[in-house]
Amino acid sequence: MLLRAWVSFCVILFFPRALALDCVLHDFESVQSITKTCTDIVVDNLFVPAGETLALNLLNGSTLTFKGNTSFGYTNWQGYLVKITGNGLTVAGEAGSFLDGLGPLYWDGKGNGGIEKPKFIDFSVTDSVINNLYVLNCPKTCIYCRGCDNVTVTNLTVDNRAGDENVAPPNQYGHNTDGFNLHQSNNIVIKNGTIFNQDDCVCVFEGSNISVSDMYCHGSHGLSISLSSGVVENVLFADSVVEDGENGIHVKIHIPGESGILRNVTYKNIFMRGIIDYGIDVQQNYPDKYAPPENTIPIYNLNLINVTGSVNPEAVPIQILCAQDGCFDWNWSGVDIEGNVAADNCTNYVPPGFRC
Ligand SMILES: *[C@@H]1O[C@H](CO)[C@@H](O)[C@H](O)[C@H]1NC(C)=O
Ligand SMILES: *[C@@H]1O[C@H](CO)[C@@H](O)[C@H](O)[C@H]1NC(C)=O
Ligand SMILES: *[C@@H]1O[C@H](CO)[C@@H](O)[C@H](O)[C@H]1NC(C)=O
Ligand SMILES: *[C@@H]1O[C@H](CO)[C@@H](O)[C@H](O)[C@H]1NC(C)=O
Ligand SMILES: *[C@@H]1O[C@H](CO)[C@@H](O)[C@H](O)[C@H]1NC(C)=O
Ligand SMILES: *[C@@H]1O[C@H](CO)[C@@H](O)[C@H](O)[C@H]1NC(C)=O
Ligand SMILES: *[C@@H]1O[C@H](CO)[C@@H](O)[C@H](O)[C@H]1NC(C)=O
Ligand SMILES: *[C@@H]1O[C@H](CO)[C@@H](O)[C@H](O)[C@H]1NC(C)=O
Ligand SMILES: *[C@@H]1O[C@H](CO)[C@@H](O)[C@H](O)[C@H]1NC(C)=O
Ligand SMILES: *[C@@H]1O[C@H](CO)[C@@H](O)[C@H](O)[C@H]1NC(C)=O
Repeated sequence: MLLRAWVSFCVILFFPRALALDCVLHDFESVQSITKTCTDIVVDNLFVPAGETLALNLLNGSTLTFKGNTSFGYTNWQGYLVKITGNGLTVAGEAGSFLDGLGPLYWDGKGNGGIEKPKFIDFSVTDSVINNLYVLNCPKTCIYCRGCDNVTVTNLTVDNRAGDENVAPPNQYGHNTDGFNLHQSNNIVIKNGTIFNQDDCVCVFEGSNISVSDMYCHGSHGLSISLSSGVVENVLFADSVVEDGENGIHVKIHIPGESGILRNVTYKNIFMRGIIDYGIDVQQNYPDKYAPPENTIPIYNLNLINVTGSVNPEAVPIQILCAQDGCFDWNWSGVDIEGNVAADNCTNYVPPGFRC
C-alpha cells in the first residue's frame, strides 16, 4: 500500500516533469534530439550561434512555445535565422517573449543591397496555428510563409520601430523589412496583427483563399500584392489601418510579365493616413514606374469597398496604371482618399463605382 503510493507519487511528480524538462530547448546543440522526440517543445531564452539556422522540423501535431528572448549571433549571411516545418502545429509566443533579429547591427539603409543580412523566419507549415509571436528588429524580411496551407496567424507583432528613418541613426535605418510574405500559400487567415516596418506590411506573392484582417500597419509600403507569375485569387484585406507609410494599398504586377492572373481580390474597410507616395497604387509596370504597363498578367475583380483616409500633401491619393486590355470587372464603392496637390490618376481603366 505504502510502496504503491510512493511509486505513484514518484511517477506523477517526477517522471512527467523530467520528460518535460528534456523538451525545453536551452542549448542550440539539443535542437536535433528535441525536435525528433518531443511534441511539446519550449524554446527557452535560446541563443542561436552566428551563421546557424534554428531549424525546427517538428513532428506532426507538435506545440512549440517561445519563451523569453530568442536571439541570434551576428554575421553577414543570407539566413534564414529560423525555419519551421510541420503539420498540425501550434506555434505560440508566451507573454513577454520575443525573437530578436538584432536588426540595428545590420541596418545600413540599403536593405537587400549593402552588407549581407539574414532573412528572419520561414514557415512551411500546414493545418497549423501561429499565435502571439513577437518579432523584433528584423535585419531584412521578417516572416515568410512558403507552401503553407490552412494556417491561422493571430496576434502577431512585428516591431521594427527602431529601424524607422526618423528613429535610427542616419544611414542606419531598416529597409526591405517586409512584415509577412505569402508565397504559394492557400487557405490562410492572418488577423489582429500589428506591424511596424519599412516595406510591405503583408504581401501576397502567390496563393488563394487568403484573409488578412484587423491589422495595424505603421511605416510600411502597404497591404500589398506582388505578382510576377502564377495566380493570386480570392484574397480579402479587411478592417485594417495603414499609417505613415509609402503606400496604403499596393498592387504590383511585375514586368516583363510571365503568365499569370490576379482575380477576386477585395479590400474592405481600410483606413489610411500620413501616406507619403500613393494612397492606392495599382500598377501593371512594377518595378519601373516609367515603363509602359503590360497586360500579360490581367487584373480581374479587384474590388474596393469603403477605403478611406488621406495622404500627405505631395502624395497621389489614387493611381491606377493599367495596360490596354489589362483590367476587367472591378467594383469600387466608397473609395475616397483625400489628397492635396496631386489628383487621382487613372490610365486605361476607371473602375465602375469610382470617378477618377
Ligand atoms: C504528418 O502529416 C502529413 C501531412 O498531413 C502526412 O502526410 C504525414 O503522413 C504525417 N506523418 C505522420 C508520421 O503521421
Ligand atoms: C536578446 O538577447 C541578445 C543576446 O543575449 C541581446 O543582445 C539582446 O539585447 C536581447 N534583446 C533584448 C530586447 O533584450
Ligand atoms: C485546418 O487546420 C486545423 C488545425 O489548425 C484543423 O483543425 C482543420 O481540420 C484543418 N482544416 C482542414 C480542411 O484540413
Ligand atoms: C490574442 O491576444 C489577446 C490579448 O492578449 C488574448 O486574449 C487572446 O487569447 C489572443 N489570441 C490567441 C488566439 O492567442
Ligand atoms: C489583438 O491584439 C492586441 C495586442 O496587439 C490585444 O490586446 C487584443 O486583445 C487582441 N484582440 C483579439 C480579439 O485577440
Ligand atoms: C479555396 O476555397 C474553396 C472553397 O472553400 C475550395 O474549394 C478550394 O479548394 C480552395 N483552394 C485551395 C487552393 O485550397
Ligand atoms: C472571392 O473571394 C472571396 C474572399 O475574399 C470569397 O469569399 C468568394 O467566394 C470568392 N468568389 C469566388 C467567385 O470565388
Ligand atoms: C468603413 O470603414 C471604417 C474603418 O475604416 C469603419 O469604421 C466604418 O464602419 C466602415 N463603414 C461601413 C459602412 O462599413
Ligand atoms: C459591387 O459592390 C457592391 C458593394 O459591395 C455590391 O452591392 C454590388 O452588387 C457589386 N456589383 C457587382 C456587379 O458585383
Ligand atoms: C498619370 O499617369 C501617367 C502614367 O504613369 C503619366 O504619364 C501621367 O503623367 C500622369 N498624370 C499626371 C497628371 O501626373
